Amino acid sequence: MRKTPYIDPARYTRFFSYRRGHLFCEGVELEKIARRAGTPAYIYSGASVTDAYRRFDRAFSAVPHRICYAVKANSNLQLLRHLARLGSAFDIVSGGELYRLRRIGVKGSHIVFSGVGKTREEIREALREKILLFNVESEAELELLAGEAARAGRAAPAGLRVNPDVQAGGHPHISTGHRRHKFGVDLGDARRLYLAHRHSRVIDWQGISAHIGSQILEVSPFRRAARRLAGLVRELQAAGISPRYLDLGGGFGVRYAGEHPPDLERYAAAMVQAIRALGCTLLLEPGRALVAPAGVLITRVLYTKRNGGRTFVVVDAGMNDFQRPALYGAVHPITKAQSPGSKAASRTRVDIVGPVCETGDSFLHDALLEPVTPGDLLVLWGAGAYGSVAASNYNSRPRPTEILVKGSTFRVVRRRETRADLIRGE
Ligand code: LLP
Repeated sequence: MRKTPYIDPARYTRFFSYRRGHLFCEGVELEKIARRAGTPAYIYSGASVTDAYRRFDRAFSAVPHRICYAVKANSNLQLLRHLARLGSAFDIVSGGELYRLRRIGVKGSHIVFSGVGKTREEIREALREKILLFNVESEAELELLAGEAARAGRAAPAGLRVNPDVQAGGHPHISTGHRRHKFGVDLGDARRLYLAHRHSRVIDWQGISAHIGSQILEVSPFRRAARRLAGLVRELQAAGISPRYLDLGGGFGVRYAGEHPPDLERYAAAMVQAIRALGCTLLLEPGRALVAPAGVLITRVLYTKRNGGRTFVVVDAGMNDFQRPALYGAVHPITKAQSPGSKAASRTRVDIVGPVCETGDSFLHDALLEPVTPGDLLVLWGAGAYGSVAASNYNSRPRPTEILVKGSTFRVVRRRETRADLIRGE
């Protein structure tokens, strides 16, 4: 593992800030939330989500477009409601995500459905909800969809998820657009399937889509994918098939530690330029970019100890609560929530680790941290996406609570799990 440079994440966001040494989320001090709600806890800034959504929306204003937030990144009901109020549509990958959206009154016309393994039941539910678009990922799925649409007596609005064969993505596990990956169908198969079903009464070719990966930090793979898709759309148009929606997926990266994501405007301009002349409505499926910077995970120091010449800070959050570091080697900066303006010189190198019985349960290796004592509150940054949604009960640990801050108020948007929750269903 590499040494972690010292990073002050508060410099990259205006929604979290130190005031006289105390960290605030918008107008609420984190220590106050920790005292009321306990730790570990996820804390989200509503204003940060609003700001990210609006900036994304604005960046694409040159073309007709629709932002379909990728629910998987953070599916908390109140967060979804917040985005729905801003006008967001949604990208789902399961019947469970559809259920969440239904629960908060999102209409089918605001939902697109992606995923390589849609079940018959999920397809039926989505047809019943009259969703905007099925992003179909294989010939077999297309046949299943056609059969279910016939049974339901209505045409299914569909597009193929094309695998544009570009290499992109922050980590091998989250790169999805290469031809050897399991996602989508290649360009040749897509061409064949569009044509084969062009006169179908049950498949209504409304779209075409691609999603090439996640945490992408360059514009060029997006541009390449958009151009390849645009090329196929032109061929289809010449053959009398005019997909109305061109869905370019998600994947725009964020700054966690030392990363340098491109300007949102540059990314948008590249996509817009590639597809503008087609006359399609652009769909985008950002997940991380909208919510990652809006969230932190707060955790308290349980112990400090020295082993083999290293200093370990043991905290009360573990890999079950937040798995990105253990799973992807992701680096999320950690700072103290009460930082009495101590000098850089007082920082020492420590390993910040969780209580789970695995060596991989480590958040940061060789990180610079101000002196801490048990009870101190620490903040793990950039935890709003793929955090709580991926938490588990490993080691029989109840999953953390989630808090949504708006201005000077905060509310629990998911209660902490209890011991009873742990054995429910057993
Ligand atoms: N659309 C589709 C079809 C997707 O599969 C994904 C993410 C997105 C949109 C949203 O991508 P985003 O804008 O968030 O990059 N757990 C991993 C990330 C997995 C991403 C899966 N697909 C992580 O923590 O980095």
